[in-house]
Amino acid sequence: MEVVIVATPADTGRVVADAVQQAVAAGARVLGLATGSSPLAAYRELARRHRKEGLSLAGLDAFLLDEYVGLPAGHPQSYARVIRAEFVDSVDLDPARVQGPDGTAGDLLAEARRYDAAIRAAGPVDLQILGIGGNGHVGFNEPGSSLTSRTRVKTLTEATRRDNARFFGDVSDVPRHVITQGLGTIGDARHLVLTASGAHKATALAAAIEGPVSASCPASVLQLHPHVTVVADEAAATRLRSAGHYRYAFAHKLSQQGY
Ligand code: GLP
Repeated sequence: MEVVIVATPADTGRVVADAVQQAVAAGARVLGLATGSSPLAAYRELARRHRKEGLSLAGLDAFLLDEYVGLPAGHPQSYARVIRAEFVDSVDLDPARVQGPDGTAGDLLAEARRYDAAIRAAGPVDLQILGIGGNGHVGFNEPGSSLTSRTRVKTLTEATRRDNARFFGDVSDVPRHVITQGLGTIGDARHLVLTASGAHKATALAAAIEGPVSASCPASVLQLHPHVTVVADEAAATRLRSAGHYRYAFAHKLSQQGY
């Protein structure tokens, strides 16, 4: 695991964009996209590079991590809509090749299995962008999630519903259920890039990187993955015991070591 500590949220965006650009240059075919506020700086930077520097994501497939259950088609907070507005429409990804689980499916359990199989068939995901919830969740794998889980229906914690109420207006409008890639599904990706900004992520980030591997902190499963890059701003990194070493290792990176 490499931990990259940078000054500001905008800097996290540049590092994540570098990792994506490097993957694309190396022939990546499949990207894993996250919603939430954490990756927004990276999406803005990738869009800028597309506009100004000729970065192209054409021909890539992309898969979302998760989706709310029961939001009507076209609801502005459905993750399918959010990722289009925040990213896909600003680059040259083909919207028809950006897939997410269908939270309006009649048989939600079957839809979760179908989506997991679709990722397997198109995959592996070359680079998966991840955020982290204040309680250590990734995707919508809340504390207690099996570390080897596959895509399935989950129930959100009340803490996550409160966190996400800011996007909906009122907590009562936040769906109780979601379909989320499992931790095992996410772990099938070749390279996991987790980005975190802000002091409200510091405790969860420290638990994920330096705490025990435990279903109580779902993001700690990243410690079992062979290729992980964590990109944190100073505020999110304040509780990392080994921050000094992470900075030292990054400053002395060999020129042939990419992300
Ligand atoms: C959300 C998403 C996650 C995201 C996390 C953190 O609910 N399902 O994919 O990483 O919670 O959200 P944010 O980046 O807005 O802090």
